[in-house]
Amino acid sequence: MLITYLLDLLYLIAAITFVVGLKQLSHPDTARRGNQLAAIGMALAVLGTLLMHPAAPSSDSSARTLKLALLYTALGLGGFIGWRAAYKVKMTAMPQMVSLFNGLGGGCAALLAIAEMKLQYIQHHPTATGMILVLFTMFFGAVSLTGSLLAYAKLEDLVKDSAITLPRHGLVNMILVFIILGLIGYTVWGAGDAGLTWGLILFAVALLYGFSFVAPIGGADMPVVISVLNSCTGLTAAAAGIIYDNLIMLVGGILVGASGSILTILMCKAMNRSLTNVLVGNFGGGGAAAAGKTAGDQTVKEINLTDAAVLLNYSQSVAIVPGYGLAVAQAQKICKELDDLLESNGVEVRYAIHPVAGRMPGHMNVLLAEADVPYNKLFDLEEANEFLAKTDVVVVVGANDVVNPAAKDDPSSPIYGMPVLEVWEAKNVIVMKRSMKSGYAGIENDLFYHPKTKMLFGDAKDTLIKLSSEVKAL
Ligand code: TAP
Repeated sequence: MLITYLLDLLYLIAAITFVVGLKQLSHPDTARRGNQLAAIGMALAVLGTLLMHPAAPSSDSSARTLKLALLYTALGLGGFIGWRAAYKVKMTAMPQMVSLFNGLGGGCAALLAIAEMKLQYIQHHPTATGMILVLFTMFFGAVSLTGSLLAYAKLEDLVKDSAITLPRHGLVNMILVFIILGLIGYTVWGAGDAGLTWGLILFAVALLYGFSFVAPIGGADMPVVISVLNSCTGLTAAAAGIIYDNLIMLVGGILVGASGSILTILMCKAMNRSLTNVLVGNFGGGGAAAAGKTAGDQTVKEINLTDAAVLLNYSQSVAIVPGYGLAVAQAQKICKELDDLLESNGVEVRYAIHPVAGRMPGHMNVLLAEADVPYNKLFDLEEANEFLAKTDVVVVVGANDVVNPAAKDDPSSPIYGMPVLEVWEAKNVIVMKRSMKSGYAGIENDLFYHPKTKMLFGDAKDTLIKLSSEVKAL
């Protein structure tokens, strides 16, 4: 009895660390601490369950000893693989890793649901409510598993959108939804003792649906899809918490489900798109993304390193706009070095951060925090747009879509309506990138042809290293 109270107390402490950790994650200064706090809470919950849960296997028989050995081996192996993967992953590959781990979480919850269903059929005929809960867990877990694995494969460029999308794919998905609803109804109310078999058929169709649901969505929209699937996994874990009467699974699942949903909404808002448009729009996946204005006979002006250094060094104010290219080049530290150099020469340097710059929420904040850029030099979209017009030079480092004027002035553009950083309002714009290639949305960017813009071609890190040397030499 005392042990049960102790375990509940441990779960309560863990739940508090999750909530406080999540709160701290919302600010770059406290994010690392928040992550550590929640991880400690999770470790406490896992350890408590292993040592104190009434259902935890004890070593009083050889069968139980074997179970225990299997359990700890799986835990050790999973923990080691997870730790190594997280340790080695590049920041640019973070969405893929989140997707993979998320899929495994969903798969795990689906397996729990299958085990529970089997148990219910062995022990007694399950109630309709119990069955609905189990099938809900199984369905969302399975969708999350195959959907996340496909999202991972798309982000890793292992599959091409066109190779897995059928004609009228939306209709195929709709039919699958109706089949799934029918299967749920029959398994709960019509199948009788054959419910377990029908439940497994549902599981197979749900696996197929997860794959089919993600297949037609443009590769470019994968971060949003991952966030949607993440909330599915959260809901699945919460449902598993109800099935197993486990408080911490319930609380953890609800927190993941809710934060995944909020994140999805925020991402859609920052791109000025509805969730439906993301899920059926095929944005950035090829077809639609290729739309937009073409460069025509407009010309591009280049600037050399010396002229760029002079322009920056003799300005009063500079704004740096980081984008995905900064992350690819891992140029954050050298960017901070250039910033320090300019500041020491009396130039005011600020950073303009677009909410969806890069490939995951807070991507630029994390990179710049890694390079020790003080948080008070980072300005969000609205704040930045207020000072950009008064800025002498804007340096765009590997950003493209988030500074595309088509979002404001070209109603035919797929990104029309998305709030962007209005860098063209500044007195001068220097754009650092390797070529004239498009960004994530796959569309032309008229900023590169703007009279105020000068291109500085090359890898962002190399260019910034050379630019810093030029500034030092002045
Ligand atoms: P992008 O529009 O993807 O442009 C990045 C640019 O970086 C590319 O045009 C590329 O041009 C350049 N680049 C790549 N490697 C480089 C390197 N080593 N050195 C220099 N430049 C390099 O990036 P963005 O402006 O950050 O916009 C983000 C996009 O992602 C938006 O469309 C947004 O909607 C989308 N998105 C973001 C999120 C989140 S949460 N962040 C979620 C969903 C969608 P070159 O190849 O010519 O060098």
